[in-house]
Amino acid sequence: MTDDSIASEKWRPDTQEGGTAELPGAPGDVQEAVEALLDEVGVDTQPEPYLEASGLRGQIAIVTGGSSGIGRAVVLDLARAGADVAFCFLDDGAQSRLDAQSVARELRHLEVRCFFQACDVRESSEVKAFVRGAHETLGNIHILVNNAGIGRDRALWHMADHEWEAVVRTNLDGAFFFTRAVAPYLRAQEYGKIVNVASVHGVRSEFGLCNYAASKAGLIGLTKSAAVELGPRNINVNAVAPGYIRTTRLTDGVSPEVLDHAREESVLGRLGDPQDVSSTIMFLVSEAARHITGAVIPVDGGYLL
Ligand code: NAI
Repeated sequence: MTDDSIASEKWRPDTQEGGTAELPGAPGDVQEAVEALLDEVGVDTQPEPYLEASGLRGQIAIVTGGSSGIGRAVVLDLARAGADVAFCFLDDGAQSRLDAQSVARELRHLEVRCFFQACDVRESSEVKAFVRGAHETLGNIHILVNNAGIGRDRALWHMADHEWEAVVRTNLDGAFFFTRAVAPYLRAQEYGKIVNVASVHGVRSEFGLCNYAASKAGLIGLTKSAAVELGPRNINVNAVAPGYIRTTRLTDGVSPEVLDHAREESVLGRLGDPQDVSSTIMFLVSEAARHITGAVIPVDGGYLL
């Protein structure tokens, strides 16, 4: 507590009891005037607790790629804040369906409504159907988190067409398809929050990432354009740029040498957790961030410094 806040504690009237505190040292008529003023302002001026302001009860959120890693952490944090959540995932085998079902079970324990479905973000028609389903099941959409993403790393001169296309279509086209499908709902209600999960590699690349870096740099461009076009209807569009985050995608797909390098490059000397990214996204979808739009917030332990 600062000296200032101690002082204001001392001078706060005891409004709970309906009276006012004794004001030490104030002459009689000054004290009377102050008491009259305090009576007028009364209880109504007490600030709302911060958590009330950031609560998401009554809001509907869509998260792409919500079945694992960062997306799963975001889905659960949104639900803990009271939002009903729709999430999609790529059905690429039994494990992916089990992962999605397990997240849906956790949502039910949190007592929020949920809609989940396999939907390939690379397919515009599937995205439209998913958004329509989420809207019909849960209601008006307020929040979109474009998180689904993949990597297929290889030196530029060895990269196959399908490796380039898979990454750019998932990481960039997918976010565009979802943003376009959700925009009419947000525009109609003149309220919305969109957060895109970009990457530090959309800002600073490394060897073997030409497809991934191009897709994430494109996503940052999409973030800024969407912020410009949707801002006049009170819709905030921002991006987070995570550094290396400990998810199975990272731990299974990246060599220990690269992870050691990532730790060394980060000023804080460690990898991040999905929760680190999720808490930044929770800030961006809250009213605490209502004056932030078109921003790219690194969640990278200082990797970009
Ligand atoms: P993850 O592999 O754990 O999860 C990816 C999610 O995206 C899964 O739910 C998967 O089903 C979904 N997905 C993949 N392709 C899809 C498609 N075509 N259609 C629909 N859903 C699809 O990955 P992780 O690590 O949680 O990554 C999430 C996001 O964070 C990605 O955009 C990634 O580029 C970004 N990111 C991750 C970093 C990390 O170190 N893990 C660092 C920087 C950014």
